[in-house]
Amino acid sequence: MKILAIVGTPTKHDGYTTKTVEVLEQRFLKQRDAEFSYLFLEDHNLPGCQGRLSCIKFGEHKCPFEPKVTPIVRAMENADVVIFASPVHCFNVSTLMKNFIDLLVYQMHRPAFFGKKALIVATAAGAGQKGILKYLHKTVANWGFDVVGQLGTHSGFFDKEKYFNKLTKAADKLATKTITAVDKDVTPKPGLAELINFRVWRSTVAINEQNSPYDWEHWKKSGWLDQDYYFETKGNFISKSIAFLIEKLIAQAIRNVSVGPST
Ligand SMILES: Cc1cc2nc3c(=O)[nH]c(=O)nc-3n(C[C@H](O)[C@H](O)[C@H](O)COP(=O)(O)O)c2cc1C
Repeated sequence: MKILAIVGTPTKHDGYTTKTVEVLEQRFLKQRDAEFSYLFLEDHNLPGCQGRLSCIKFGEHKCPFEPKVTPIVRAMENADVVIFASPVHCFNVSTLMKNFIDLLVYQMHRPAFFGKKALIVATAAGAGQKGILKYLHKTVANWGFDVVGQLGTHSGFFDKEKYFNKLTKAADKLATKTITAVDKDVTPKPGLAELINFRVWRSTVAINEQNSPYDWEHWKKSGWLDQDYYFETKGNFISKSIAFLIEKLIAQAIRNVSVGPST
C-alpha cells in the first residue's frame, strides 16, 4: 500500500501538522507494511495561480506552471491513499495549501482521482480546525477522492501525555478504517449532494462549450454529458430524479439570467 502525505506547513518536520502526520504514519506502519512518503509543498516553490483559467478552458498542459504541478499530480496518481495536511492560518488553510488547490482547479471540472482514498489533517494552536477540515474534505472529494476520515489536532497539547494517548488512539482507528477501505476497494455510492453537484457541473460544462472547449471535449469523451454521474451507479432512483429536476431548474436560471448579485 502506498501512502502519500501532502503537507502544507512551512515549518515542515519542526511543526505540529507534520507531527500529526507522523503519528498517523506510525499507526499505519504498525498495522500494515506500507510505503509512506512525505511531499512538503514548501519544497516545491509553486508559483501563485495567475487566475487565467487556461487549465480549465484549454487543458492543464496550458498552465504556465504545469512542469511544477504535474510531478505532484503524478505522485498522487501513484498512491493508494493521499493525506492532505494543513496548519490553520488565520482560520484558513495555509497559503501553500491554498495555492496548491488553486493550481489544481481543473480537477474540480475534470475529477480524476476516483477509487483513491484520502485523509484530511488540520492542526491549530487554538481554533479553526473544523472549518478547514470541512473545506479540504469538500475540495478533494470534488477531485474524485473518497475521503475516509479526518483528524484535527491542537499543537499546544502535544506534550501532554493524556492528549497524546487520545491522539494515538484516534490515529490508530483512522489507519484501520483506511486500510479496510483500501482492501475492500469499493467506490462509495454518491449521495444526493454528490448527484446534484455532478448535475450542476454538467449544466455549466454544457453551456460553456464555446468558452471552455477542452472541458467540454473531456466531458464528451468521458461520456459524462450523457450520464447521471461520473461512473455507473445502481439504484438511487429518487435521488437521481431530484438531481435531474434541480439540473433543469439551474439550466433555466442560467438561460433566463434569473440570478441577481448578492448583497
Ligand atoms: C500566519 C499564522 C496564522 C495562524 N492562525 C491561526 C488561527 O487562525 N487559529 C489558530 O488556532 N492558530 C493559528 N495559528 C497557529 C498555528 O495554527 C499553529 O502554530 C500550528 O501549530 C501551525 O502548524 P505547524 O506547527 O505545522 O506550523 C496561526 C499561525 C500562523 C503562522
